[in-house]
Amino acid sequence: MDPGSALEGVLADAPRLIAGASSLEELDRVESSLLGKSSTIGEVRRSMGSLDPGERPLIGAKLKEVTEHVQTLLSGRRVELEVEDEARRLTEDRLDVTLETHSFPRGSLHLIQQTIDEIVDIFTGLGYRVADGPEAELAWYNFDALNTPPTHPSRLESDTLYLSHGDPKDEVLLRTQTSPVQVRWMETHEPPVYVVVPGKVYRQETTDATHLPVFHQIEGLAVDEHIQFADLKGTLAHFSREFFGPKTTVRLRPHFFPFTEPSAELDVSCFLCDGGVPGCRVCGGAGWLEMLGCGMVDPNVLEAVGYDPSRLSGFAFGMGLERMAMVRHGINDIRHFVDNDLRFLRQF
Ligand code: DAH
Repeated sequence: MDPGSALEGVLADAPRLIAGASSLEELDRVESSLLGKSSTIGEVRRSMGSLDPGERPLIGAKLKEVTEHVQTLLSGRRVELEVEDEARRLTEDRLDVTLETHSFPRGSLHLIQQTIDEIVDIFTGLGYRVADGPEAELAWYNFDALNTPPTHPSRLESDTLYLSHGDPKDEVLLRTQTSPVQVRWMETHEPPVYVVVPGKVYRQETTDATHLPVFHQIEGLAVDEHIQFADLKGTLAHFSREFFGPKTTVRLRPHFFPFTEPSAELDVSCFLCDGGVPGCRVCGGAGWLEMLGCGMVDPNVLEAVGYDPSRLSGFAFGMGLERMAMVRHGINDIRHFVDNDLRFLRQF
């Protein structure tokens, strides 16, 4: 067959062959059958040298035209197939986001942490800062600097857990109260002082419904010029209304703590029965709930940290967090806080 009509044949067949390729791989095969070495185009190209010189430019031009046309058709079809391919993969690989999966249960903060956060919030709202201190503490901070004499019964090994025991000057213990942080804070900060200190405390204690050997307290300390007992009562009354509800009233009963003078215990009115119901499940009918210890900072404590008690005065308070949470939520056994029973924990 002469090269001219062979090329015409290619021109006629190519569109059908190319359009018929239904995948990119098939199109590759069609391409080499149309343009490859053993294709008609390939053969014509190879035979160019042996052509009659008069015929050569004509066939050459035809060869170029047919080759370019075939290439245009091929690249057009290639784009079509690529688009189809992409669309198919998008459908086949689509994620079904409505499919049900494992759901991971969402945890929540422990009730003690929630209680800490809530109480700290009330006091930061009054301008207090938050402090902390070591749980392994020197006896000096836990007792001596807090005006507690060496003979005080709470210092006995039957009450306090010692890490090293012997000479009171360098005894180390697990702090029995958050009060030592009062001293640590004042030692390192200039007055005025307004701080609260949440934290763990430790006591030699047999576990029962109302006692744990490890529990939590929040300490409060305010030291400034002209602080009076009325400021203590006003602050704690405000706190009690915020924590137990707006109708809550407070009363102070005389008490003793080594580091405050005078000292008191604060009771809040029963938020359930308001004092009117005999045998009330929250207050037992007494109408009052014992809440915390407090008092005016003893001048000896101010002196121990180098503050001038003739210019400065202050008040302090300390409350048990488990007790606060128990009263507020009607929890009747302190061991629930450490049992890790989800049926308890999930209620809060
Ligand atoms: N630290 C005392 C306790 O653990 C509680 C306490 C009472 C703290 C009076 C105070 C306070 O700051 O002024 O029983």
